[in-house]
Amino acid sequence: MQNFLSTTDWSRDQLDGLLRLAGELKQQPMNGSLKGKSIALLFLNPSMRTRTSFELGMQQLGGIAIVLQPGKDAWGVEFRPGVVMDGDAEEHIAEVAGVLSRYCDLIGLRAFPGFKDWSNDRTDSVIRALAQHASVPVINMETIVHPCQELALMLTLQEKLGDTARRKMVLTWTWHPRPLNTAVANSALLIATKFGMDVTLLCPEPAYVLDEQFMEAAETNVQDSGGSLQVSHDIESAYAGAEVVYAKSWGALPFYGNPEAEWALRHKYRHFIVDEKKMALTNNALFSHCLPLRRNIKATDAVMDSEYCVALDEAENRLHVQKAVMMTLLGAAK
Ligand code: CP
Repeated sequence: MQNFLSTTDWSRDQLDGLLRLAGELKQQPMNGSLKGKSIALLFLNPSMRTRTSFELGMQQLGGIAIVLQPGKDAWGVEFRPGVVMDGDAEEHIAEVAGVLSRYCDLIGLRAFPGFKDWSNDRTDSVIRALAQHASVPVINMETIVHPCQELALMLTLQEKLGDTARRKMVLTWTWHPRPLNTAVANSALLIATKFGMDVTLLCPEPAYVLDEQFMEAAETNVQDSGGSLQVSHDIESAYAGAEVVYAKSWGALPFYGNPEAEWALRHKYRHFIVDEKKMALTNNALFSHCLPLRRNIKATDAVMDSEYCVALDEAENRLHVQKAVMMTLLGAAK
């Protein structure tokens, strides 16, 4: 049984298959391939795109989706093994995963990291506990990576650029008033390097470089795919000649769990906003972001409203790629 927890578990051929199927589903959105099937969607954090696209996607394939928000409309869940459960959680993931596996054919989970201890959060232990106890395939709807977003980004780039190999992508850190999850940045790094892009990770200073497990995985991808990876702290040279600008804000890992200390760094970097002046340095680059995005904080109105902004295409493609993932995990892909 295969899960969809991280694209690092999937070969390039398998990912190509998912993207091909997603493209077909985009042309023919309705089919009954998952008639009678169901997915439980567990959201420990808010969502607009992920929830809508999974619910709608399952319906378009003839199945149903059940949305649960543990701690709100469902019992709170304990994910750690062997603990005395005298906190807020009423049940353990062992039972939650076991019960949902009896009812449903797939389980999706969104569980952002706790923003207290990166040495624990970097192990992705929450979704791994679910996968350990589930007897049906598990889909990652964003933890410390966001693999569904990765597929949507790559489908969008292939639609606009064709083959992505050796295309220059700048993955730029942007300012935001507080430190955010690194998941989408980790994921953009993984998928772009897996598909042979020349990736420049642009961030204000070394504290904002991503976790070494993702930097190392990206280096391995580069060796396999023939792309390249470099880190830059210089805005002008990073944007120069880029064909894709992908923006995200994230927290500095050395200050994880300590936002006040991180602010001493962060407050200096408002100028990392994506604006027309920076985009003019590029080779007519596409711009995208996973959304949600604070306008005139991460990117200007002019960039978001431009012809080259493909953020809505990427958001739409979440629907198509997730249908491909669900069909593939359930053996319904031809
Ligand atoms: N990009 C994304 O996952 O959006 P939501 O947080 O709205 O689901």
